[in-house]
Amino acid sequence: MQDLEAIVQEAIALFAGIEDADLLEQAKARYLGRSGALRDAEKSLARLAPAERPVFGSRLNAAKQRLETALREQRDRIQSRRLEARLREESLDVTLPGRGSGTGGLHPVTRTCERIERLFRSMGFAVADGPEIETDYYTFTALNQPENHPARSMHDTFYLAGGAHLLRTHTSPIQIRYMEAHRPPIKTIAPGRVYRVDSDATHSPMFHQIEGLWVDESVNFADLKGVLIDFMKRFFESDELQVRFRPSFFPFTEPSAEIDMSFGGSWLEMGGAGMVHPHVLRNVGIDSEKFQGFAFGLGLDRLTMLRYGVNDLRLFFENDLRFLKQFN
Ligand code: FA5
Repeated sequence: MQDLEAIVQEAIALFAGIEDADLLEQAKARYLGRSGALRDAEKSLARLAPAERPVFGSRLNAAKQRLETALREQRDRIQSRRLEARLREESLDVTLPGRGSGTGGLHPVTRTCERIERLFRSMGFAVADGPEIETDYYTFTALNQPENHPARSMHDTFYLAGGAHLLRTHTSPIQIRYMEAHRPPIKTIAPGRVYRVDSDATHSPMFHQIEGLWVDESVNFADLKGVLIDFMKRFFESDELQVRFRPSFFPFTEPSAEIDMSFGGSWLEMGGAGMVHPHVLRNVGIDSEKFQGFAFGLGLDRLTMLRYGVNDLRLFFENDLRFLKQFN
């Protein structure tokens, strides 16, 4: 009898000193397990005189219950200590200054594009777009580019497997798509990404152009010059710009010109332009006896370079945040 109380006291003291849940379960086995101390006491029950058994039995049960209670309390204690420790570790110092989420910004080419769209809208132009994966027909054939035109070569153009489609080399296919869907008067611009096998300080394999198209009964070359020079002056916010129209050749315009701007003491080519070739109008079913117009295609990245004084166009596409952040 004495033994039982001693066992209980010992166990309760032992449990109270254990801080680890696994160790506590091991300690439990030592007293309540199959070969535990209380089991031994239970076995001795059989050896007692029948009259003594009920008294011992109930003491045994009471002892077990006290151990279970002590165990439960210790488990709870261990758990709440662990919770407290975690709360302490993960506590939030609400007095710390916020880190801020870092607002994003628009890419300089996107800014330029939006600015150009605004300027042309104010001159009465609509804004259109077209697919970057194009067919041979819209990129070349409909634009009066003969089979042997160098732009058609594998060398200059990214063809997709199979050869039926290609990454558009310029935004001019949108002229055709737009004229197929609209009748004159037509007055639209179309910005977008274009692709060529090109790479140096003023050429990137992916770059942007902005196409312009104005077709009506009497739109002429003077209108072309007027619109483009007016646009350039407003874009660069300067009346002192040096812009030059240099005679050139495009299969889809006649006559054709290249537009250059003075940049760092030399001329940088900004785009091509000209009067829409009658064959192009015929290809989209517009009467070239009645209608005429001009088209142009400007290099958007080049305009961005000049506006911000950047001397290597490839910087725009390296995605170095130290560079890009300067524009926001
Ligand atoms: C054309 O692409 C014609 N479609 C333009 C045109 C449209 C002419 C309508 C007549 C009527 P060109 O290949 O010259 O033309 O390119 C136009 C402009 O795109 C160039 O002047 C230049 O500013 C820009 N450009 C050309 N290649 C690159 C390149 N690899 N990287 C950056 N800009 C380029």
